[in-house]
Amino acid sequence: MTLLQARGLVKSYGPTPALRGVDLEVAEGEILAVTGPSGCGKSTLLHCLSGILRPDAGEVLYGGQRLDTRSEADRSRLRRTDFGVLFQFGQLVPELTAAENVALPLLLAGQGRREARAAALTWLERLDVADVADARPGEMSGGQQQRCAAARALVTEPRVLFADEPTGALDALAGERLLACLTRTAHERHTSIVLITHDASVAAYADREITLRDGAVDPTGLGADIAPAPTGGRR
Ligand SMILES: Nc1ncnc2c1ncn2[C@@H]1O[C@H](COP(=O)(O)OP(=O)(O)OP(=O)(O)O)[C@@H](O)[C@H]1O
Ligand SMILES: [Mg+2]
Repeated sequence: MTLLQARGLVKSYGPTPALRGVDLEVAEGEILAVTGPSGCGKSTLLHCLSGILRPDAGEVLYGGQRLDTRSEADRSRLRRTDFGVLFQFGQLVPELTAAENVALPLLLAGQGRREARAAALTWLERLDVADVADARPGEMSGGQQQRCAAARALVTEPRVLFADEPTGALDALAGERLLACLTRTAHERHTSIVLITHDASVAAYADREITLRDGAVDPTGLGADIAPAPTGGRR
């Protein structure tokens, strides 16, 4: 069943077009990769889908209901309850331990301390970082920090996780470990993921991939890097 849908999304920043009529659907529990070269509109699309930005034209439907026409307050409430966001840099609070960082969204939502900590520990386990529960970000590797940030994005049990280049700051091994944990958890819990990446090896973790080129979905479905590099390598 379709959970999230975009129809004819158009968005410009002043004279700069970023999206020029994007249609897409994300099914419940589906991991959709959005690939494409720098500047093709990936982040803008994510911001429109998650209700951070309002498109200039077109519509976003979540659970069959218009999202883009709701008020700012309504959209931010929905982001807190139904959506999770993971960026390239996890942006953990440096003064707090891993467990405290992950518990934070639950405490802000009014949950009790003991319950929030228990849930945080469960999520740290799911993301394979239970061993650093009491460490602060400065004492963790980049990969551990990012898996902890993923736990924090998922602790509220969102129906959609929006991830914008979540492995962008990690080496290949740490990236694979994050993606393995994320995709396993998403499939187990039926969480949809919109996974933005410019990296074909990251997109390979998704159930399906679409490619944006100049603000529109490439109908051939082939990435921007289909033209072989002069050396014959992929990039
Ligand atoms: N806040 C902004 N103000 C003005 N122009 C912007 C802004 N954000 C993005 N743009 C422009 O909109 C277009 C799409 O940008 P966007 O950030 O969505 O691309 P992207 O695919 O996420 O790129 P990258 O892979 O480099 O992150 C680009 O031409 C960019 O320069
Ligand atoms: Mg971007």
